Amino acid sequence: MDKLLIRGGNRLTGTLPISGAKNSALTLIPCALLTEEPVTLRNLPRLADIDGFQHLMTQFGVSVGIRGKRPEEFGRVVTFEASRLTSTVAPYDLVRKMRASILVLGPMLARMGEATVSLPGGCAIGNRPIDLHLKALEAFGAEIELAAGYVKAIAPEGGLPGGEFDFPVVSVGATENAIMAAVLAKGTCRLFNAAREPEIVDLCKLLVAMGAEIEGIGTSDLTIHGVKQLHGATYKVMADRIEAGSYACAAAITGGDVMLEGASAEDMQATLHALRNIGVTCEEHKEGVRVCADKPLKATNLTTAPYPGLATDMQAQLMALLCKAEGTSVLKETIFENRYMHVPELNRMGADIETEGRTAIVKGVETLTGAEVMATDLRASMSLIIAALAAEGETTVRRIYHLDRGYERLEEKLQLVGADIERVGDE
Ligand code: UD1
Repeated sequence: MDKLLIRGGNRLTGTLPISGAKNSALTLIPCALLTEEPVTLRNLPRLADIDGFQHLMTQFGVSVGIRGKRPEEFGRVVTFEASRLTSTVAPYDLVRKMRASILVLGPMLARMGEATVSLPGGCAIGNRPIDLHLKALEAFGAEIELAAGYVKAIAPEGGLPGGEFDFPVVSVGATENAIMAAVLAKGTCRLFNAAREPEIVDLCKLLVAMGAEIEGIGTSDLTIHGVKQLHGATYKVMADRIEAGSYACAAAITGGDVMLEGASAEDMQATLHALRNIGVTCEEHKEGVRVCADKPLKATNLTTAPYPGLATDMQAQLMALLCKAEGTSVLKETIFENRYMHVPELNRMGADIETEGRTAIVKGVETLTGAEVMATDLRASMSLIIAALAAEGETTVRRIYHLDRGYERLEEKLQLVGADIERVGDE
């Protein structure tokens, strides 16, 4: 298993390209199940999770054509053609490795009238149920059966009649599944208290380009008028706001000055607001977002919330940055339980963090020190990289398969802006 070696202390400067958004890509790819015609996605990040989803699509008989970009360039152009689907089952072995596989449930049900997906297993960042995905589909007229670890959704003859669903809790994945199921319904589907993350807007834009009728895009109340069929489209995946935010924290902790090329300031407002409160200068430019830490970092309080609030996916990275800020910061994680697994590892690097339930108290320290660390999820791993970039001495980060799931060629990008980081094979 590979590991990353980081020697901290280099100030990051220069331009760092931002890739297509992983979480957007994971909901855009299953849209190809909704039409017989080809759907081409540009700017798909080269990530283990995306490869996994492409593989899942081939299990249904979808042809996947990768073309266009040279290996040294970031991103890919991939065409998915689901002219004939040969299976409606997402097996345990694939779903187990990738939770986002649940996102085939809605589109497969809409296109084929039925879909069977293995229940995702336990998850490192707390118990993540899928009850809301199922309730929304039921509200639109699907019948749901649970048996032998699988969920089967069945639509009445002729398609989903439509209906209304009011989310008791904002859920990104359940909103995505519901939207994808609704676009081919016989009637109209309405969603209240829907998630309105930029990735959901990206999903709606692709669906509209495919011929879907969706009102309220970007708001929490969506009305979807089902259409008889959808057609193919070519669509560019939005920039990854979490990747950009992560590198913003990396630049800031080193006192750096980095242009995050291609990043969308509009999608990152909550993160930029937090960074500005910490004393980091963030400028919005045509080519991206410039982050410059020319003042001392200062403590701030942060609470995660559904969009437009601060993304839970930025919590670990901002916490790493706050380890080096002057004063005491209080962080509250409101989306997931058990999302502080980076805390003991950061403390091993000399941080001073205490947690109580969903609250973390971070006392800024003068010095972080390199250590051998490993993390149990994607963003937690990134927080260790951020701390390592500002730590004295060398840090070894193990289990970097988490990072390969969500950061396209991380070490190459960090090297571009002057980090001392290398990937080595484990002995
Ligand atoms: C997505 C993102 C993930 C991000 C999360 C929150 C993808 C592939 N993943 O995950 O990176 O951290 O949004 O922004 O896009 N819940 C239920 N029942 C359900 C579904 C969710 O109770 O059926 C709860 C969850 O336990 C959690 C909250 O709702 O407490 C939000 O989860 P959700 O927005 O669904 O997260 P994901 O879509 O899984």
